[in-house]
Amino acid sequence: MPNIALLPGDGIGPEVATAAVEVLNAVAFDLTYDEHKVGGAGIDEYGVAITDEAVAAVKASDAVFLGAVGGPKWDTNESGAVRAEDALFRLRADLGLYANLRPIRPLRALYDASPLKRELIEGVDMLIVRELTGGLYYGERGTKDGRAYDTMVYTVEEIERIVRAGFRAAKSRVTSVDKANVLDTSRLWREVVTRVHAEEFPNIELEHELVDACAMKLVAAPRHFEVIVTENMFGDILSDEASMLTGSLGMLPTASLGGDGPSMFEPVHGSAPDITGQGVANPIGMILSGALLLRHGLGREDEAAAVESAVDKALDKGIRSRDLGGTATTAEVTKAVLEEL
Ligand code: NAD
Ligand code: IPM
Ligand code: MN
Repeated sequence: MPNIALLPGDGIGPEVATAAVEVLNAVAFDLTYDEHKVGGAGIDEYGVAITDEAVAAVKASDAVFLGAVGGPKWDTNESGAVRAEDALFRLRADLGLYANLRPIRPLRALYDASPLKRELIEGVDMLIVRELTGGLYYGERGTKDGRAYDTMVYTVEEIERIVRAGFRAAKSRVTSVDKANVLDTSRLWREVVTRVHAEEFPNIELEHELVDACAMKLVAAPRHFEVIVTENMFGDILSDEASMLTGSLGMLPTASLGGDGPSMFEPVHGSAPDITGQGVANPIGMILSGALLLRHGLGREDEAAAVESAVDKALDKGIRSRDLGGTATTAEVTKAVLEEL
């Protein structure tokens, strides 16, 4: 019986987590859940974003399913203060989850929900492979005497393993995104990507793109991209941008992989304080993260595909939450997906 570490978190996190667990339970009858308070909920209860006990329990689980963490209640400008987001950084580092996969597949039924023209997004099927345990998020930082700094560090090994993940996921083309006209880390990145490509993946086309130009091309010609591999913060920013190809940030799932133990699955979006408590959050990003959990976390392709196809069918029949221009509540979207299973 696979045990899932369930970390609903804050804001709409618990709302979409409840919805996605209902869907998971409708396709996989043997899952058990071990729930922990993390993020702001962890700070309120224990004074820390995630306790050592929760980390130990998570490590012993078969897969981690996280809603979202953070919110204005726990935002602080004080350098070094406890933050809700610390839960994410600790989980990613302690579990060794360096490879964050963010698939972006606009569904036919939602072409009209995107602010981009239909002819631009038709046929888009892209994957952003975001490095998740290095770069600015984990470099030395501080504030002193009216001066603040964050440092971006990458080693050859860190770059090699993430670009391999990118090439392995690609059928024909990888776009490596950097800022090699400015940053030393990017120049090392480009050198390593070029070498790994030549030595190990010569049959896949490799192109290098500067991050600013990539941001433009993502909306000008999104179909061009198959796999984008990039460092931590560039991947964070580009994936929120790319989410609008699907109609809403609320649609995107992610899988964080690469460790020896359990992998982690969560939507790309955050805790959405502006709509928390209204019951209107789009649960699809979290439901599709459940599909990735089944596929990558538990190796259950059939069940994963069943969830994805149920989401497709429910949207085909017209169900739309508010972010997609409709009026359906979280519960109504969830019910529509369950009816297709
Ligand atoms: P956000 O992703 O929470 O929200 C951005 C916008 O998208 C908001 O208008 C929100 O209402 C909308 N949105 C997001 N998810 C939605 C959904 N499922 N359905 C409908 N609308 C949705 O980003 P933010 O407002 O910049 O950040 C809020 C908090 O979330 C911050 O504390 C941030 O640190 C945190 N955050 C957490 C995660 C995570 O836990 N993985 C990810 C991103 C942001
Ligand atoms: C994400 C989020 C996090 C990140 C925040 C909440 C720290 O935006 O998972 O995309 O930047 O990694
Ligand atoms: Mn983000």
